[in-house]
Amino acid sequence: MLSNTLKALACALSFSITALAHAEPIVIKFSHVVADNTPKGQGALLFKRLAEERLPGKVTVEVYPNSSLFGDGKEMEALLIGDVQLLAPSLAKFEQYDKSIQIFDLPFLFDDLAAADRFQSSPQGKALLTAMEDKNITGLAYWHNGTKQMSANKPLREPKDARGLKFRVQASQVLEEQFKAVRANPRKMSFAEVYQGLQTGVVNGTENTWSNYESQKVHEVQKYITESDHGLIDYMVITNTQFWQGLPADVRSELEQVMQEVSVEVNRQADELNQKAKRTIAESGKTEIIRLTPEQRGEWREAMRPVWKKFEGEIGADLIKAAEAANQP
Ligand code: LMR
Repeated sequence: MLSNTLKALACALSFSITALAHAEPIVIKFSHVVADNTPKGQGALLFKRLAEERLPGKVTVEVYPNSSLFGDGKEMEALLIGDVQLLAPSLAKFEQYDKSIQIFDLPFLFDDLAAADRFQSSPQGKALLTAMEDKNITGLAYWHNGTKQMSANKPLREPKDARGLKFRVQASQVLEEQFKAVRANPRKMSFAEVYQGLQTGVVNGTENTWSNYESQKVHEVQKYITESDHGLIDYMVITNTQFWQGLPADVRSELEQVMQEVSVEVNRQADELNQKAKRTIAESGKTEIIRLTPEQRGEWREAMRPVWKKFEGEIGADLIKAAEAANQP
């Protein structure tokens, strides 16, 4: 009798050991819309490498760049239903989920990336990472891309040069208002459609970072890029809250450690990648890069500044103050 019980126990034990040994790794799909050779593309690949190195056999990370799995418009829904576990949408793409994140789209808010960095690591900036948890979205980190430039097939030196032009914008009301403020016509369009939209004349201009222009060859269909640095494209790396909370504690804490290390590296390299892309664009000879005088840049700032007031109610005056304060080192 005893020996039968022992046999059964031994059998159960050996079964669970075998099951553990053959446990399938947890698959984490990381989908994004840009190319591999951009700050976000590099970050996703580094996350894959480090996560798989530190959690061998326990975690597999599949990276899908260039909207190859889900593009804008579909990726958030996919995260919420569990078809993908990690995304890093640009901060312009959260307005449906939390209005205060619109702060990052305000034109001429941060003087430079270091200021954006200070705000993101402040208590107010960190609080935004958890602002969507009631919607089952958890922010794990901020990643930089960089500052935005403006482009068109005519030189944009003063705000009046943009009048009447159709500009592609990300899905953001703030960005729509930004272009309306210079009497241009904004048009929301997903990132994957930008090249063709410009090529066929559905839109005449756009705004983006050097690395996004260069890696999507957008500069080949825009004759002029104005170095305006008028706004920011940064990302929030997000996951499905329930999925993340449901991970075994040791796996989750290792992944959080990896995410922290990757974020430091992405934020260290982002500007370098953008400067490299800018050089490639300049050397291509396909686009003329326009530098603004301080007076000209001041005119753009003045023309776009009323956008702040329009969104102050939704974003919160205190949050805007905190972000502005981050311009002081
Ligand atoms: C865009 O849609 O222009 C950007 O947000 C793309 C990106 O993820 O950098």
